[in-house]
Amino acid sequence: MEPLYRTPNLSKRAFARTNPQTIAQRVAILRELLPGVKSIAEICCGDCSQQWTAYRQELGVEVYRGLDIQPEIVAANRALGIDCVCGDALAEITLRQFLAFEVIFFGPPLSIDCDGHQLLSFREVTPGYAAFVQLLLGELGYNGTLVCICPKATTIGDVRWLYNQIRALREDFGLRLVYSSYATMTGDGVETESRLKYLDLWFSNQLEDSWEIRNNEK
Ligand SMILES: C[S@@+](CC[C@H](N)C(=O)[O-])C[C@H]1O[C@@H](n2cnc3c(N)ncnc32)[C@H](O)[C@@H]1O
Repeated sequence: MEPLYRTPNLSKRAFARTNPQTIAQRVAILRELLPGVKSIAEICCGDCSQQWTAYRQELGVEVYRGLDIQPEIVAANRALGIDCVCGDALAEITLRQFLAFEVIFFGPPLSIDCDGHQLLSFREVTPGYAAFVQLLLGELGYNGTLVCICPKATTIGDVRWLYNQIRALREDFGLRLVYSSYATMTGDGVETESRLKYLDLWFSNQLEDSWEIRNNEK
């Protein structure tokens, strides 16, 4: 039977974390699209120490909060001084604590065991994008920018499908940017050839509904 949630196998490897090049790209996009942003949250944050440092040092972000379902990950983040909540991304009472953040990154596990090896398709990801936007945008009425971090196998049809789900909930939300993030490094700092890592979908009711398609492939 499929597990209800996917969490990193802590006995096998370091906590799943985003590679530093993708984090640098997100910093540059935040600086461009949302200059002066002061508060950022990350739902399904994993080990978020690198982005926590980058957002504060490079953007002057004053408030950062993560959320993860795995207690060991939450404890490790907190040990570094990061405000990190333990809970389920799809629990209404938990998500309520994130409504005041200007930007919310939603980064659910994109591979089995969160190890980056057995990658999931867009529709296989749990917690799923449609359920999350239903709760955050539909039921809780979030205002701001929601960045859905999606698997590299995400198709333009998947993007259109999620956009339609969102528009059925909220006509004020649009899709500002579809960003393909390439990197030459894994989350553990191992050098690789340039690889597509993520498709980041920048939904917002503060930015234009312009569907800009962009990537950083050299
Ligand atoms: C691989 S990390 C993602 C890191 C980063 N957000 C990124 O996109 O690169 C995914 C995290 O989601 C957590 N997770 C899985 N199911 C969850 C749920 N229902 N609610 C909150 N966190 C969850 C896992 O414990 C894991 O640490």
